[in-house]
Parts: sequence; C-alpha cells; structure tokens
Amino acid sequence: MNELQSRKDAALAAITAADTPEAVEALRIEALGKQGWISQLLKTLGGMSPEERQSQAPAIQSARAEVADAIAARKDALEAAELDRRLANETLDLSLPAPDAPRGSVHPVSQVMDELAEIFADLGFSVATGPEIEDDWHNFTALNMAETHPARAMHDTFYFPDRDEAGNRMLLRTHTSPVQIRAMAKQGAPIRIIAPGRVYRSDSDATHTPMFHQVEGLVIDRDIHLGHLKWTLETFLKAFFERDDIVLRLRPSYFPFTEPSVEVDVGWQDVDGRRVLGGDGDAPGHGWMELLGSGMVNRKVLEFAGLDPDEWQGFAWGLGVDRLAMLKYGMDDLRAFFDGDGRWLAHYGFSAFDQPTLSGGVGARA
Ligand code: DAH
Repeated sequence: MNELQSRKDAALAAITAADTPEAVEALRIEALGKQGWISQLLKTLGGMSPEERQSQAPAIQSARAEVADAIAARKDALEAAELDRRLANETLDLSLPAPDAPRGSVHPVSQVMDELAEIFADLGFSVATGPEIEDDWHNFTALNMAETHPARAMHDTFYFPDRDEAGNRMLLRTHTSPVQIRAMAKQGAPIRIIAPGRVYRSDSDATHTPMFHQVEGLVIDRDIHLGHLKWTLETFLKAFFERDDIVLRLRPSYFPFTEPSVEVDVGWQDVDGRRVLGGDGDAPGHGWMELLGSGMVNRKVLEFAGLDPDEWQGFAWGLGVDRLAMLKYGMDDLRAFFDGDGRWLAHYGFSAFDQPTLSGGVGARA
C-alpha cells in the first residue's frame, strides 16, 4: 500500500514538473498506457480473492483517477502557456501591403457603353434592349424597308434557314434600330431611350468586323424638331469627349426610317499630326468627320409601331460604339477589339472601380 502511495506521489511530482506536452504524454504512457504500472496493477485485481480485491481496488482506482486528472490539468496548463507565449510574441502587421491578386479589366466597349448610359441617364434617357436574333419585320419592314425595298441591299444580312411561327424570316439584327419599334410598341409615347448592343453584318476588314456594336437613340414626344436632335447629340458628345468645343454639322442624307434624314459630322483639328475632335471644322487645319446617322422618325415607322404621327414626332440616331471607343481612347484596329489578346486588354482595359460619372469625368484611367 505504501509502495502504491509513493509511486503515485512520484508520478504526480513528475507530472507537475513536466514542461512540455511531449513529456506529459510520456508520463501518461508510463502510468496509464497498456503496459503502464497503474494499468498493470488494475489487471492484478482480476486474480485476487473478492476480499482482497475489495481492500485493494479503491486505492488503485483513486490513484488512477488522480494521475489521469493531474495529466489532463498539466496538458491544459502547458497549452494555455503556449498560447500566451504566441500571443505575446507573434504580431500581425496590418500595414503590410497584401499580395497582389490577379485582376481582370473592363473591356473598352463595356466601358464606353457604361459611359453612354451614364451620360444619357443624366439627360433623362433609359436603356432599352431587344433580341440579337431578330425577325425580318422588326429589322426591316417596320423600319420602312419593305421586302423589295432596295435599301435592304445596304445591309449584308446573316439569315437563318428557318422562319418563325408567323412565317417571318429570322436573322441576326443588322442594326439596333429594331429596338425603336419594340420600345414604341411596348411602352407607347412619350419615349426617351438609348439601346446599346451587338449587331451583325457579313463584312470583314481592318475597319469592319462581322459583329460590332451600335447605340440607338430614340426620342418621341409632342413638338419635337431637328433642334432638339442637334442639341441632344451635341450635349452628349461634349460630355463624352470631355470637350466644350465640339461642333456638329448636319448634312442631308437618306435612311428609310427617317424623314428628313441627316448625316452628323463632327469637327476636328490637327494637333501635332493627330486628329483631335473639337474646334471649327471649316478653319485651315480643321476638318469634318462623319460620325453617325440620324433624322426625324418617318411617319410610316410611327404608324408601323402603333403611334399616331399627327400626335407624336421624334428623332432617332444610330452610332457605332466601337468607333466611339477608338476615337476617344486612340485605338486604331477594330479587329483587336475582338481578338481577346490579354496584352491588348491589359493596355486598353479599364479598372472595375473606374465608374464613369459626369461630375468625375468619364475618361479617368485607373
Ligand atoms: N440603322 C442605321 C445603320 O445601321 C443607323 C441609323 C441611321 C439609325 C439613322 C437611326 C437613324 O436611328 O435615324 O446604318
């Protein structure tokens, strides 16, 4: 009995003195492991007489419990001490720059579309959309280009082999103008919308790609005239190019869906051999650049879309978004827009945090 007492006291002293979790574990195995001395003593109980067992068992059991408790307490204490030590020694320097994570960039076309939406929102326009797979009626007929109209030949159209349920030929829209018809038919008048989006034509060289982007504009209200058209486009272009000296020239033109139709030219000037928009197009060293097609919406188009042309008038325009991006950000090959070359995008792309606003400027580079 005394021997048990002294082995136990020695074990408890060793446990209290152990200064690493590994040392405590070694002591646990020595006492309570399969071959440990307390485990062995417990086994001897099996071979004793009931009386003997009754007299010996309590002391052995309580020695086992005391040693097990001491081991658990010592492990906890050592772990707490280790944690305190780490908390005292390890510091986190929040001022260190975080590692640079790879970031994508916003494509110039997306950037310019955001800029357009932002500027026209300030002028009271909302953004409308329409399908890229369009029917013949919306893309041509309702825009005053009947089946046999020679103006259809102006567009190199991609047709689908099938027709829709109503027998309409289906095609990839050749311009954003069909959104005019859809907007008028859906919301009636008055209307102030822009419709940016993809359009398709069978055409490919340095300045033409089979897919490109346009932004359509449509204003329908009472007593709308060409003056409103000119002011709206001028105000837009001044904000977009961030120049107050933008001048426009309207030239008579022809589009089936407008009457009268105008081609809108913008003045440019030579600055160190570069054409920069702005200035007087007629002065020496200045010139005019054709920018977009526009006009007063043809009465027939209003009728096709379900509006009374004696009550409502309006103007519309169609403008190349890619072309705008090239002019504003100095890119020279349209095909690069759609090559998906990461180097080109890294050079010309925009930061996702570069939000265009009229007050903050729309052209700020990240
Ligand atoms: N849809 C024409 C095109 O793609 C552009 C255009 C011209 C749109 C005059 C218009 C407009 O809304 O009034 O060539």
